[in-house]
Amino acid sequence: MAKAKSIYSCTECGASAPKWQGQCPGCGVWNTLVETVAESAPASNSRFAALGGTARIQTLSEIEAREEDRLPTGIGEFDRALGGGLVAGGVVLLGGDPGIGKSTLLLQALAELSAVHHVLYVSGEESGQQIAMRARRLALDTKRLRLLAEINLEKILATLQAEKPQVAVIDSIQTLWSEELNSAPGSVAQVRECAAQLTRLAKQTGITVILVGHVTKEGALAGPRVLEHIVDTVLYFEGDTHSSFRLIRAVKNRYGAVNEIGVFAMTDKGLKGVNNPSAMFLSQHGQDVPGSCVLCTQEGTRPLLVEIQALVDQSHGNPRRLTVGLDAQRLAMLLAVLHRHAGIVCFDQDVFVNAVGGVKIGEPAADLAVLLSIVSSLKNKALPTKLIVFGEVGLAGEIRPAPRGQERLKEAAKLGFTRALIPEANKPKHAIAGIEVIAVRRVEEAVDRLRELD
Ligand code: TYD
Ligand code: MG
Repeated sequence: MAKAKSIYSCTECGASAPKWQGQCPGCGVWNTLVETVAESAPASNSRFAALGGTARIQTLSEIEAREEDRLPTGIGEFDRALGGGLVAGGVVLLGGDPGIGKSTLLLQALAELSAVHHVLYVSGEESGQQIAMRARRLALDTKRLRLLAEINLEKILATLQAEKPQVAVIDSIQTLWSEELNSAPGSVAQVRECAAQLTRLAKQTGITVILVGHVTKEGALAGPRVLEHIVDTVLYFEGDTHSSFRLIRAVKNRYGAVNEIGVFAMTDKGLKGVNNPSAMFLSQHGQDVPGSCVLCTQEGTRPLLVEIQALVDQSHGNPRRLTVGLDAQRLAMLLAVLHRHAGIVCFDQDVFVNAVGGVKIGEPAADLAVLLSIVSSLKNKALPTKLIVFGEVGLAGEIRPAPRGQERLKEAAKLGFTRALIPEANKPKHAIAGIEVIAVRRVEEAVDRLRELD
């Protein structure tokens, strides 16, 4: 028998190289290449068959375009992240750190669905007993919730073909293995092959498949990253394991809007949806403290108030710039803008910035809040009470508008904030009751106006 050939594949993007290299030739990330066994292509060229067989060529106008029927899971916040519910034949990837609550959420969702629909929970991680224990603790109705403890892909496919459930959960994709490949479960080749086969089955039969994927920082297991292009919807669980709040964010959705979030609290009775989460990421100080600024951010269709905290402290040696939940590169840029346009220097200071509550903020409209929290910490002077801030900062020192400014202001007013420092272009035409708007065009102007306020 010929010696098994090794190839090196990237745990981030799945690209492969014949030799080990420090940097992935595909995505340029360092130290992600791991040795895997080179696989001979499986007989059925399954990777290319995700659309479920070819059809004759049609014009788009011939094809009846209808809205997909949604299958609500009965868990409102989960449905919101999905864009209204599950879609027949759709494949959803739910990724997140181990222990964040993926299995808990899906068990709750399937229990709800099982009241009227045919469902199957395939577990490769926990035994039937463990899952039954959890379901009992969550007080779920499990009379019609069916379970299969199995990791062999071929057996799972055969069971799904025979049973034809409407919704199937695979917990987790990293534990499955296909007999056609020699590599270990969790390797890039296995994860990709198993996901491709399950996707093909979903498209052919109309079964909705939800795949659970663990995200590992070390990249020891193939990350769900390699699956993002195969599946229809990618949801990620975010949250600080030390706090009880959890966010589900849609990062890709062929059936709905992205960046829509669902908000949950982990309780002793499982995950509970939080219907009005806008004030959740405010830390409750007794009084105002320097270095804290409340940002009104927009996640999907929903405004959220998030406290941004900065600590600026005398540096010893190389000044450090560290962010939690915000982009570190952008912090460096903001510090340069602050120096150049407002004359405030931080090059002999360590700067730490944190978004409270483990939330991750990607939108540039957070810039102004980050900047003002830094100024506040540096001057050791608290920002005025009941102030919210949003706005993007440009390299020329200009303050650019944020999308949906009105909604942000209304939400802030609703939560009892009385002043808003915002971009001039976001100034509402008609005053919003309860909130005084301070509109600024430039960074230096924002810093000046802050000084006037108390
Ligand atoms: P789990 O769903 O097993 O995580 P994952 O599948 O993403 O790895 O969640 C496990 C964590 O959730 C565990 O640390 C305990 C906690 N938990 C609760 O706090 N309350 C509950 O009711 C349940 C079921 C779990
Ligand atoms: Mg789990």
